[in-house]
This record gives sequence, structure tokens and C-alpha cells, in this order.
Amino acid sequence: MFYQRLQVLSSGGFSAFRRLLGRIKTWVQARPALAAWFFPRDEGTRESRYREYNGWYFANFYEQEKMLADKPRMDFYHTAVTRHIQPGDRVIDLGTGTGILAAFAARRGAAKVYAIDHSEILKHAKTLAVANQIQNVEFVSTHSQKFSVDEAVDVILHEQMGDCLFDEAMVANVCDLRDRLLKPGGLILPSRFELYCEPMKLNDERRVPFIWELNVHGYDYSSMERNRPQDSDYYHLRSSDLSFVDHFLGEPAPVLSVDLHTLREADMPLDLRFTRTVVNAGRLDGYAVFFRARVDGDLCLSSGPLDAGRAPHWGFRILRTDRDDFAVGDVIEVTLTVDRWPDLDTWRWSHVKRSAASVAVAGR
Ligand SMILES: C[S@@+](CC[C@H](N)C(=O)[O-])C[C@H]1O[C@@H](n2cnc3c(N)ncnc32)[C@H](O)[C@@H]1O
Repeated sequence: MFYQRLQVLSSGGFSAFRRLLGRIKTWVQARPALAAWFFPRDEGTRESRYREYNGWYFANFYEQEKMLADKPRMDFYHTAVTRHIQPGDRVIDLGTGTGILAAFAARRGAAKVYAIDHSEILKHAKTLAVANQIQNVEFVSTHSQKFSVDEAVDVILHEQMGDCLFDEAMVANVCDLRDRLLKPGGLILPSRFELYCEPMKLNDERRVPFIWELNVHGYDYSSMERNRPQDSDYYHLRSSDLSFVDHFLGEPAPVLSVDLHTLREADMPLDLRFTRTVVNAGRLDGYAVFFRARVDGDLCLSSGPLDAGRAPHWGFRILRTDRDDFAVGDVIEVTLTVDRWPDLDTWRWSHVKRSAASVAVAGR
């Protein structure tokens, strides 16, 4: 009896202590200077943890299947390779996965393809190449930043786009190979990308408001606002379900356009300001983040949730906002700041609303 009571008391005390520590951590994390002092970021560890995760993730057959079964994606790459790789080219396929893009390049007549991947999936790429009688491909099991070759190459071929374009370290990895191993005037395929961050309304039936916005049969949750979570993940909604999106409030336009032939990662802006004039009235629920890759004239690959022919395996992300209602002609002024583009936890966003009337007065 005594021991039972002691156990209940001590486990209750321990839970209370854990809750207190949790509250202190949340309080500290809400104060950037204190957070930096108590929880310093270990860049080296973050980078190596991401590499390990990425290699493990792509070793999974299902991840490869989704990409290979994505017809717009595969058609885009097949056309890009057919149009832009010349017989005799020397090519690096960065992140070859099952070796499909290397095979396209080899069949197009590339003299040599270095097909590199840091994931276990590479062993299957090798056997697939043999089974498909693919010649001229050398498979290299390594991370691209450790790869080297004596002779510069004509083309860097890659598919390193994350749902939010930059979240699979595309810029760092492609630019590293470009600076070390691409011939002057060589080709990066694909190289031109647009990032979108569109103010959007969710489908009413699919919308999940923040808890403090809820009132369920008269039970009011607004007092919960003082408990706003501090973790960034809470403000991201990941989905590949297109029925989430009702409409964009403005006309979509890129918030950032890059060309990997000339881009330097250090020059990427960390602070974007953009506006949308509302053409479709409605509630602002968040920003849909997606990308388009362009190769030439009509050859474009899109993950946009409202784009016909979008590549379906890419999800899109919705950066959640507090509810705000907009009429046609209102202007949304958006600020998006990041510490590091590949690290979605460092993205922050906010908006200011200018009513159509105030915009009209200012324009006089
Ligand atoms: C999105 S998949 C593309 C696979 C294949 N190219 C395709 O189109 O189906 C990216 C691949 O790149 C590999 N990868 C990612 N970053 C890499 C890096 N820096 N060095 C080598 N492999 C990398 C992953 O293991 C994964 O297999």
C-alpha cells in the first residue's frame, strides 16, 4: 500500500516536472536570443542528419515507384534529354535513383554517364542497367559533394526538387558540381525554376481552422490563442490532395526565379516581399507553395495544385495563416523571410491587408 502510494506520488511529481520543463522550453523558444543561447544550432549535424535521412528515404521502393509512375514528370525528363543531350556528351546524373535518367541519356548516345547516388537504391540501378542493356553508364555510390572526375562534363542532369523546390538541397548540390565539374558553357538540365507562394482559400469542407478560431455549437475556443504553438511544423499543412484547394485569391506569379547556370546560393534573397491584387474574393487560409521547372518554350514541369497536367507525385505545402477575408480589389502585401531556403522550419510569413478603397485613394 505504502509503496503503491509512493509510486503514484512520484510518477505524478515526475509528470508535473516534465510539464514544467516543457513550458520552460516553449517560453525560451519564443525568445530568439535565449533560444540561440540554450539551443545552439549544430550546422554540421543538421546537414549530415539530412543526408542520412535522404539516403534512407530514397532507398524505399515506394518512393521510387511514385516518381517513376508520375507520367508528366517522366515525359518532361524524357523530352528534355531527347532535345538537349547530344550524342557524344559526357553527363553527370546527380541522384540517379533507379538509373532512369542516366538510361535516357545513354540511349540518346551519351559517350559517358556518371550516375551517382548516396542511397542503397544504387545497387538496383546497376542491375536494372544490365537487364536493359544500357551501355556507357558508370555507377558511383557516393554523395555528389564527394564525387570527382578527371575530365569536365557537358551536362549535369538532375531531379533534386523538393515539394517546396529548395528543400532537397538542390541549389547546394547542383552548384557544387557545376563549379567543380561542368565545362564552361555546359548545360544543367533542368536549370530554370520558379517558386510560387500563392494566397489561397481552402475548400470549406476540408478547412481545419486554428483551434482559437473555433466555436463548436457555442463552445468558444478563442481563449486558446494565448497558447499559440511555437513549433513551425504546426503552421505547415502538407498535402497532395488537390481537393484541399478551393481557389487562389490573386493571379499566380513567381516569387523567386532562379537559373542554376548562374545562381550563387549565398546571393539568394532571404527576405521576399510581394503583393497580390485579389481577383477571386474569399477567405485567406494560407499560401500554397509549389514550383515550375522550365527547359525551353513549351517544356515545363509543374507541381502547382491548380495546374492542368501537374506532376502528381509532388505534394504541395500550405503555409497556414490566421483567417482574413478579402474582397475583389483588395491588396495582400506578403512578407516571406527565411534563414536557410532548404530548411523549411526557418520560413516565416506575414501579411498586411490594403482594402480596395484605400488602394484607390492612394492611386489618385
Ligand atoms: C528525387 S530522386 C530522383 C531519382 C531519379 N533521378 C529519378 O529521376 O527517378 C533523388 C535521388 O537523389 C539521391 N540524392 C539526393 N541527394 C544526393 C546527393 N547530394 N548525392 C548523391 N545522391 C543524392 C537520392 O538518394 C535519390 O535517389
